[in-house]
Amino acid sequence: MKKIIIAPSFLSANFADLKNEISRCQEAKIEWIHYDVMDYDFVPNLTFGSKILKDIVNSSEFKVDIHFMVKVKTKKFEDFFAEYIKCNPSMMTMHIEAMSKKETKKFYELCKQNKIMFSLAVSPKTDIHILDEWLDKVDNVLIMSVEPGFGGQSFIPEVLTKVEYLSKLQKVNKYNYTIEIDGGINEETSKKAVKAGVQMMVAGSYLFESNNFSEKVKTLKHD
Ligand code: DX5
Ligand code: ZN
Repeated sequence: MKKIIIAPSFLSANFADLKNEISRCQEAKIEWIHYDVMDYDFVPNLTFGSKILKDIVNSSEFKVDIHFMVKVKTKKFEDFFAEYIKCNPSMMTMHIEAMSKKETKKFYELCKQNKIMFSLAVSPKTDIHILDEWLDKVDNVLIMSVEPGFGGQSFIPEVLTKVEYLSKLQKVNKYNYTIEIDGGINEETSKKAVKAGVQMMVAGSYLFESNNFSEKVKTLKHD
């Protein structure tokens, strides 16, 4: 069985002590981190731009998964991503609900041109079939297991049917995407997610609000 990736979400990190938060991830042998960009438009919360990410990548070697919860309002869609791309992310995730079809295509091309994994996210209330036309192109699908916007919310178990659907199609059609889940992940919910077919899990408050980060990471591994 392939190893499940655990990506700590820096949304729940202590920003007054970022160096220590990076060290906690390194000690726990974390390879990927998750960076949540919110705009107070697509979601009712505002987080950070590219500067904090730049500082994190300059003092670590993590692979970065940027989760954009934004509606792009720049004149040229691509311009919005320029500073983030300079941070050399391994993957960029946009919500399909936040883009027109034309923008989704542009986002796909932008990721491919920059050799970044092209990832699409779906919110809990969004029909999974909205992604059907992209399943042969997407490198990762992010299933939101809470309403996007805040850390520390409870896992919505109903979204696991979406994971099962994607997992089935992955096998039947030999699709190359990975399946990621984000929101409310803890020891108990991670078991269900892995059983349903998840290959990458984001965890924010469960890890960063603990005083034993490495131990908590271990409780998420069920492979
Ligand atoms: C929520 C974010 C998540 C968040 C998860 O909109 O996308 O990445 O940090 O936090 P927890 O793990 O606390 O639910
Ligand atoms: Zn996220």
